[in-house]
Amino acid sequence: MAAPRKIGIIGAGTMGSGIAQKTAQSGLDVILMDLEQAAVDRGLGGIEKMLNKGVERGIFRPGQPEAILGRIKGTTKHADLKDCDLIVEAVFEDLEIKRNLFAALEAHVRPDTVLATNTSSFKVEKVAVGLAHPERVIGLHYFFHPAQNRLLEVIPGPQTSPKTLEAAWAFCEATGKTGIHSEDSPGFVVNRFFVPWVNETVRLLEQGVADLPTIEATAKKLLGIGMGPFELMNVTGVPISQHAASGLASELGPFYAPCDRLKEQVSSGKDWDLKGEATEKGAADVEKRYVGLVLMVAAALVEEGVSSIEDIDIGAMVGLRWRRGPFALANSIGVEKAVAAAAEVAAMYNLPLPKMLAEKKEDLKPFNIRAANLNIKDGIATITMNRPNAMNALDPDTVASLAEAFDTAAADPAVTGIVLEGRGKAFVAGADIKFFINAIDAGDIPRIVDFTRTGHELFLRIDQCTKPVVARLNGMALGGGAELALACDAIVADQGAVLGFPETGIGIYPGLGGTQRLAKRCGLGVARYLVFTGDIVPAAKAASLGLVDRVAQSGESGQVVQALLKEGVVKAGTGAGELANAGEEKAACEALFSDQNVDKFLSGSFEATDKFGEKAAKKIKSKAPIALKLANDLMNQALALPIEAGVEKELAVLADVFSTEDAREGLGSVGKARPQFKGK
Ligand SMILES: NC(=O)c1ccc[n+]([C@@H]2O[C@H](COP(=O)([O-])OP(=O)(O)OC[C@H]3O[C@@H](n4cnc5c(N)ncnc54)[C@H](O)[C@@H]3O)[C@@H](O)[C@H]2O)c1
Repeated sequence: MAAPRKIGIIGAGTMGSGIAQKTAQSGLDVILMDLEQAAVDRGLGGIEKMLNKGVERGIFRPGQPEAILGRIKGTTKHADLKDCDLIVEAVFEDLEIKRNLFAALEAHVRPDTVLATNTSSFKVEKVAVGLAHPERVIGLHYFFHPAQNRLLEVIPGPQTSPKTLEAAWAFCEATGKTGIHSEDSPGFVVNRFFVPWVNETVRLLEQGVADLPTIEATAKKLLGIGMGPFELMNVTGVPISQHAASGLASELGPFYAPCDRLKEQVSSGKDWDLKGEATEKGAADVEKRYVGLVLMVAAALVEEGVSSIEDIDIGAMVGLRWRRGPFALANSIGVEKAVAAAAEVAAMYNLPLPKMLAEKKEDLKPFNIRAANLNIKDGIATITMNRPNAMNALDPDTVASLAEAFDTAAADPAVTGIVLEGRGKAFVAGADIKFFINAIDAGDIPRIVDFTRTGHELFLRIDQCTKPVVARLNGMALGGGAELALACDAIVADQGAVLGFPETGIGIYPGLGGTQRLAKRCGLGVARYLVFTGDIVPAAKAASLGLVDRVAQSGESGQVVQALLKEGVVKAGTGAGELANAGEEKAACEALFSDQNVDKFLSGSFEATDKFGEKAAKKIKSKAPIALKLANDLMNQALALPIEAGVEKELAVLADVFSTEDAREGLGSVGKARPQFKGK
């Protein structure tokens, strides 16, 4: 089944118009429906305004808003949705309205059209009641503002078919969302702990634990958020918090019910008065309560099987922009303290302490938040890099987690193929720059060498695995991410993915096998072009360079990978470009980056005769000279060396490059001003 391409959005209000915008921004065709033309026009007008603001802020180029709006057609008729592959409803939060809407749509759409509900408070199962095809109904819960907030909760009901679920995930990925899984349970994942967290904020005030400014400031500091819970209630409207709490309480019991002080505030019709200075009085108790509360609810979610530790933390970080999710927060303050705080909250509200927390009293190891998740289905092991907030950057913990997942999959006799992929907008955006900087500043370059050696060992195991391994690039694959992909037998990229080796622009060289595997796979011309210029290339160009084996339409790379593995196209031991179909781009690189030209490029004496040469020469001049030279030497040796020996060469000069002033300058410049390299 192809990924959904034609999308219907029903309800052109706050959420519907934002969902329509994001979907059209992702290149998909949208039909936006509301009851009245005036509502449709309001929705479209709102989208236009937001897109134009995006141009002012440099997010969109001039002309882009028109192209995006051109993909959205407004309507007031159900019949116009007849060709849609997937429809998201974002109408009023009223069960009858939602059910009647889906029933009416069934008369027009195909039997396999997916019907998704953006409900916040009803079970997906209940929305599907009475339909001819309830298996096509799923929950897709967006967060405000849906064109900006990346989080999407994907909620199959008990009646949802696997095909519907697959289509919903493909849609999630095609629209650049970071999806988390939720079972069909009250509040799904994020609201289940966010709503009681807001309610508890008011309870802390009610119980006199601290004054309002202190509670507000403590929440901001603890969670790293710009807006505290009281201000947030003012912005969204205080009654929404009461309403959400009542909704959860009706399903889950009195602990979730709005406290009296919250109800009073709503009755007063006033916003919270935020004036006043925060003090230290009560701050520690506020912090303890927050940590205990969110941990207790999050653990209940895991115990009930609603979601996983990883997805809960991702939900908090991506959806609420908390610095850490409940489990990482507990790890950061210490498991013993956090579990004791959760136990106090449980006792205070007469709730059972979830078993996973009770057990922690015996075993005080930190919560295991896996940076790489392993999921085995139908003989195919999928390993998902799981730190979307850090763009899945490789640090020692992430590499250890990836190694554990990979080794488990490789050793499992039931596994016939392995897929590596990333969550969110990156496959892997590179190695963790912060880790490098910290090690350099601590005078501990051997730590970088050790980390790289561990990476090499893992990449060699991937390279030499007796099962076929495919890298599925859903987004950015830069530096160490591109090198990880190169260690696989095949590389499949979403059409929106990009690849690149930006290292020489930050004072280092690709040190995780990049100087070796790139030359082996694509030839020296392409390897020199990518490593010297640092160009970040889109998937289609990467395919023409021989760097990517297949380019898939947005949202379809998963299916392409499955088909390649099932049909036996990818075999263990390929990966040196056997499946690639290089074209013009590769030929152009071979001509420009010939042996004769390389010295001229590196000495700055290259005289360009065309645009490609001119641009390349200019870019190369801005790179770190020592890194360029070392990379050049290493690439020149690559074709004559077996990979094991090649990576040893790469490792042997790693400390040299990381000891340069240029490395510190380059690494420190990331996200800041252009680095000034001195060649030392
Ligand atoms: N606002 C949020 O932050 C948020 C977040 C997540 C989910 N949700 C959910 O999203 C849904 C929509 O919320 P909203 O805030 O966008 O509401 P809204 O009131 O801004 O918009 C609802 C729109 O739906 C239209 N509508 C109502 N019945 C319709 C029908 N039968 N056919 C076509 N159009 C119809 C209305 O005219 C209105 O334009 C609700 O289910 C809500 O719970 C909201």
